Amino acid sequence: MQKKIAVLTSGGDSPGMNAAVMEVARAAAKANMRLVGIKHGFNGLIGKFPKASDNYTILSLDTVLDIADLPGTYLRTARSPEFFELEYQQKAADFLKGIGVCGLVVIGGDGSYQGAQKLVELGVPCVGIPGTIDNDLEYSETSLGFDTAVNVCMEAVRSIRATSRSHDRPAVVEVMGRNCGDIAMSTAMSTASEVVVVPEVEGWEVDQVAARLSSLIARGNTRATIVVAEGAWKVMKPFDVYEFLKPYKQVFPGEPMNAYRFASILKRMCGAEVRANVIGYTQRGHEPTAQDAVFAFEAGNMAVELLKNGVGNQAIGVRLGRTFHMDLVKALDVKPVFNQHQFDLINSL
Ligand code: ADP
Ligand code: F6P
Repeated sequence: MQKKIAVLTSGGDSPGMNAAVMEVARAAAKANMRLVGIKHGFNGLIGKFPKASDNYTILSLDTVLDIADLPGTYLRTARSPEFFELEYQQKAADFLKGIGVCGLVVIGGDGSYQGAQKLVELGVPCVGIPGTIDNDLEYSETSLGFDTAVNVCMEAVRSIRATSRSHDRPAVVEVMGRNCGDIAMSTAMSTASEVVVVPEVEGWEVDQVAARLSSLIARGNTRATIVVAEGAWKVMKPFDVYEFLKPYKQVFPGEPMNAYRFASILKRMCGAEVRANVIGYTQRGHEPTAQDAVFAFEAGNMAVELLKNGVGNQAIGVRLGRTFHMDLVKALDVKPVFNQHQFDLINSL
């Protein structure tokens, strides 16, 4: 009988997810296996939608042949609160076994991997492909979408800098990454930005950034770029935004820091027209770069090869530039190592 496997995308969409799905379909066709596309992440597995075709679909190679270079995810994605509960995880496992699926490819970030792990515990062999712009799956040097997101941010900073330079205005640029500063660090390095603020540096201080910006301005740099990872706001040394800004703007007690307030504060502390830019979803909704597309190609093929040979519970990643796989649980256990050297280089001089 023809073997049947399934694939889903979960968590935040990331550039390269479609390329990976297409490659899974191509490899499945080569291996003479049937492929089920699960829609809306884990929601499709738990039968969230009344119409079956909204939960899953048979994927033929023809259907997905042309999706590889499209941004977003053809299969759709979701965050599924229900899937945290054993009852729904069991429902998903029963569903997959019921339709004869012998293995599932999960393309997503660390949350999606935790979900996959739950399915593994319930007897469904899973292979994870890291699909997240955040690059927060520490066992792998990169994840699908990270390179694209950095390229989008680099282009954005270059454009922002043209205006910053023209007007002698420093810029605060907020990038994504959840609790990981990798997008910010790579954006800052690729644009020779003068300051980077990341969630890995707990207790960072507004005054320190202001002092650095003032010294840059004093040395003639009137268009410095301060790249801030979104997760950094949560770990800064407490700063009373209301107390500081109330003489200047309409603010309310307890307002949290964000890029716009940070720029307003730096403007007053440093006497420069600091402007904020938040890059947002353009980081996720771009066609994959060559690097992400190549990884998608390799990962999609490797995932099918593993499942074809009856090997589940694996996470695919990149180590020393090569695509590899390792035990899913061990992959989730790898702890982050902060690149202090890069951080110091960006924030020096
Ligand atoms: P990402 O995969 O990009 O990290 P999320 O953290 O939002 O994205 O996780 C995506 C989904 O994975 C969640 O909405 C949930 O359905 C599932 N998930 C996350 N953590 C767990 C967990 N500990 N147990 C079961 N499912 C989980
Ligand atoms: O995980 C990808 C990511 O874009 C993070 O960088 C960000 O914190 C989060 O997703 C935003 O999620 P949402 O889809 O809810 O906007």
